[in-house]
Amino acid sequence: MSLGVPGEILRAPLLHTPRNPFLESGALESYPDGALLLRAGKIAACGDYNEVRAAHPDAAYRDLRGGFLLPGLIDTHIHFPQLRILGSLGQELMEWLEQFALPEEARMAELSYASDTAHRFLHALASHGTTTAMVFGAHFAPATAALFEAAEVAGLRIVSGLVLSDRGLLPELHQTPETAYRDSGELIRRFHGKGRSRYAVTPRFAISASEAMLEVCQTLMQEEEGLRFQTHLNENRSEIEIVARLFPWAEDYLAIYERYGLTARRAVMAHNVHPRPGELERLAAGGTAVAHCPSSNAALGSGIFPLRRHIEAGVRCSLGTDVGGGTGFGMLKEGLQAYMLQRLALNPGAPLNAAQLLYLATRAGAEAIHLEDEVGDFSPGKSADFVYLRPPAGSPLAAVVERAESMERILAALFTLGDSSCVREVRVGGTAVYCVKSDDD
Ligand code: GUN
Ligand code: ZN
Repeated sequence: MSLGVPGEILRAPLLHTPRNPFLESGALESYPDGALLLRAGKIAACGDYNEVRAAHPDAAYRDLRGGFLLPGLIDTHIHFPQLRILGSLGQELMEWLEQFALPEEARMAELSYASDTAHRFLHALASHGTTTAMVFGAHFAPATAALFEAAEVAGLRIVSGLVLSDRGLLPELHQTPETAYRDSGELIRRFHGKGRSRYAVTPRFAISASEAMLEVCQTLMQEEEGLRFQTHLNENRSEIEIVARLFPWAEDYLAIYERYGLTARRAVMAHNVHPRPGELERLAAGGTAVAHCPSSNAALGSGIFPLRRHIEAGVRCSLGTDVGGGTGFGMLKEGLQAYMLQRLALNPGAPLNAAQLLYLATRAGAEAIHLEDEVGDFSPGKSADFVYLRPPAGSPLAAVVERAESMERILAALFTLGDSSCVREVRVGGTAVYCVKSDDD
């Protein structure tokens, strides 16, 4: 029903994964001559151009053939204060934190520096086609508020929160459980559920969170409806050894978060490269998601993520760039890295296919952060969040696309060769958050 508003038809080849290609064959839906009908910021129809056009003859029309429409990309693990330490290669996690990440995070005490970083960070997300991100904020409330404010101006969807720690880092990064509770509460009241923002309670990791701090996290989660939770889990072998010493009562790393009720459906655990027996089954039973960050896992030498074991155990998995332990903002690149590293895994099973990469980079992310009713694919009724990718003229990607015999081949090529130079337009809720104009538009 049109409600009198004709809407706008975008005509281009399009691909999305409204179902899970790890569980079903044929989960990739694609239309070589496709169309999206947008109305009031939502997807009103998605399908073959001729059918959409015939059903909506009054809609405005835009011809975007020559490029491809994908759902907005969803990054489920990324740190905004680490933008400027991208490329700090050569260390493992604990040394990298000490030498690069934590000193930079301490600079977020200066609000103007943090605010400038937040603006650049959001621009980087949008210019790579990312429309939704689950973001580690800063250890400082004003810097974290600056991120939420900048996201509202930029129009992006973020799920973020004040990073909580009361030990083991740099003293200037530590809060007390009392200030953590107070400052988190204020941020939740200001930003959670406002516009496109959601709040995530965010202890950095078990090494830097005392039991009193984890109790604060539990209280916060119980006090407000719909909060998300994010932290790190089982990333690096040295980290896991330290955690075991700090929590001698815990049978494994996950048990620490479990004791404080922090592993339910709205929780996203980053990494989980080294799960212990039993942890995967418990993650699956709780509906807890794991953000797989393949570039970071390789760059920090953390290890190869046991994706097949996660999938077989029924654990929800999504993708994260983990800037700045990772290597950049590109979710297409992250998909390719996932493919590459799974190829090299000891028991890799079948190689990941292009539909699975798209799912990991879109719909799986929406499920992980509990936004699957709003975003993640082009089902009618969902928000009109999309990225329009067009291979630059004369590029290798343009050449591959010209001769590709199927939409799956094209999708695989987009993951292999696509980068921010292909991102032409990005919309969230039907509104442009990034757009490149050129003579051929
Ligand atoms: N564990 C605790 N903090 C961090 C971080 O900033 N990056 C990564 N990759 N792991 C962490
Ligand atoms: Zn991280």
